[in-house]
Amino acid sequence: MCGIVGYVAGADTSGAKDIIINGLRRLEYRGYDSSGIALYKDGKFETRKSVGGLENLEKLVDDPEFDSYMGIGHTRWATHGVPSNANAHPHSNEDETVTIIHNGIIENYLELREMLAEKHGVKFKSETDSEVIAHLIGVNYEGDFLQAVHKTVDMMRGAYALVTVCAHEPDKIIGVRKDAPMIAGIGKGCNFIASDIPALLEHSKEVLIVENNETIIVTKDDIQILGADRKPVTREPLHITWDVDAAEKGGYDHFMLKEIHEQPEGIKDTLMKRLKDDDTINLDGIEMTKEDIEGFNKVYIVACGTAYHAGLVGKAAIEKMARIPVEVDVASEFRYRDPFVDDKTLFIAISQSGETLDTLAALREAKNKGARILSVVNVVGSSVARESDDVVYTWAGPEIAVASTKAYTTQLVCMYLIALFMGKVKGSIDDKYYKEIIAELKTIPGKVSEILNREGIIKDAAERFFNKNDIFFIGRGPDSGVSLEGSLKLKEISYINSFAIAAGELKHGTIALMDEKTLVIALDTQDFLFEKMLSNIKEVKARDAYVIALAKDGHTDIEREADEVIYIPECRDELTPLLSVVPLQIFAYYVAKCRGCNIDKPKNLAKSVTVE
Ligand code: F6R
Repeated sequence: MCGIVGYVAGADTSGAKDIIINGLRRLEYRGYDSSGIALYKDGKFETRKSVGGLENLEKLVDDPEFDSYMGIGHTRWATHGVPSNANAHPHSNEDETVTIIHNGIIENYLELREMLAEKHGVKFKSETDSEVIAHLIGVNYEGDFLQAVHKTVDMMRGAYALVTVCAHEPDKIIGVRKDAPMIAGIGKGCNFIASDIPALLEHSKEVLIVENNETIIVTKDDIQILGADRKPVTREPLHITWDVDAAEKGGYDHFMLKEIHEQPEGIKDTLMKRLKDDDTINLDGIEMTKEDIEGFNKVYIVACGTAYHAGLVGKAAIEKMARIPVEVDVASEFRYRDPFVDDKTLFIAISQSGETLDTLAALREAKNKGARILSVVNVVGSSVARESDDVVYTWAGPEIAVASTKAYTTQLVCMYLIALFMGKVKGSIDDKYYKEIIAELKTIPGKVSEILNREGIIKDAAERFFNKNDIFFIGRGPDSGVSLEGSLKLKEISYINSFAIAAGELKHGTIALMDEKTLVIALDTQDFLFEKMLSNIKEVKARDAYVIALAKDGHTDIEREADEVIYIPECRDELTPLLSVVPLQIFAYYVAKCRGCNIDKPKNLAKSVTVE
């Protein structure tokens, strides 16, 4: 997500400004909407920040007088609060003795904000959760910076890579890590702290990885790590052999593979940060009463491409849990068909970028007709988010590969949460069902990791079939929606002609295409449709097609019909799309790799489609 760079050298040196901004530039590939820098000057930390690209910040700091031997810098990807100068990091406390930069989310920031305002009269300058940290360290400071930082993190709940400096102790940078990456780099007469390796690769190849709940104190001569128990830890530095390009991808060959592997974390963040201790859902403060929900006579889910496929899963979930009819439409069709929308319609837009023109135009159409607009968006402050009544953010982090992966699975989590939330408030699901689904959702990150551990089996299949000209995907129920997504992934990055169809529809025409050259990927993950899908597999086998089936662990009966089987962990039928899509993403990735395609930037495609 956001980028962090900190640098400290001897007090008789300068040049921190360029080193920090160059480090931030190395993190630009991750995406950001604003940036900022704080340098120690004349007894205090002076902060400058700006929305937009780093070139805006560079203009602001284009002043030879503004430089130092130490400082911290940040690129922000908005989560709480729109992209703006005020919300950009660094943030300071009121007397500007403490300055911080932060990646992650402070779950209890509202509570802390209230406490700071009531007890200490703090006036906040931004809408961010992060600003509370600077004020807290300030009020906790009693002559010892490290103690104040520890006292503060003990009051915080959530995920953070926190980096802070203090005007009373300007020789050091302190970092604390919990569930967000942080590293330190060993320099010559200087040391670094950063969120990611590319930020410091130009200056240091000796890197210390900071583990969860550890604190790091960085001075020009020393990097001290304290464990979760706050006692010193010794750690050998890692010697980094990657070049900058490999480092940006975290050692993966492509962003797409990196993002596929980020899914357990993305799913966990999107889910867990919305579950209160008693497992009730906090849907980002959205107010939707029983009367509101009973007042909706229809839900429209409108999106494009992968996001539309997430909508198909959302439809099944909302219809099952909230018992309201749902229509899913591609945005480019919806906007031109004079849809039945009025003030009794709930309109849900799904969009990773939040800038897709078709989705935005459909949203405006629905808004004009009086619908309540709820959006599921990844990019905070994007147009779709701004123009919606309510927003549920996917918190997938920046998605760089054109082919969407982690945005899709986190969109699914949001759709399940919306459906559960509506069902619970409306009373259309009972407590037992609610608890079972929540309990199952919590197992999903671990199960996705389990599938990622089986990557070799899927890679092997891709290496045997990458030369196919036609690949079909079939499935029933939720599997039919996931088939569409698997097929889209494959065609967009491998350029193979691929087609997905509800398995029961095959016999009405498409089965005519099956012959011994056809590869069929048959999804059979639904217990209640298992036998029916076996019949569909038999149908295509009878036309000599080769079948790779996807089934849940233990459903070995399928081996009788399919030529080979890829298994996913056991899971309730409703939630299998969160798992079954992952082998399809991996398959598409390795097929494209074997074919030598430009995986992260496929031909003819753009990450954000802002034209009609
Ligand atoms: C496919 C893909 C596209 C997008 C579509 C909508 O991998 O990425 O199909 O899903 O262009 O984009 P967003 O979600 O940004 O509205």
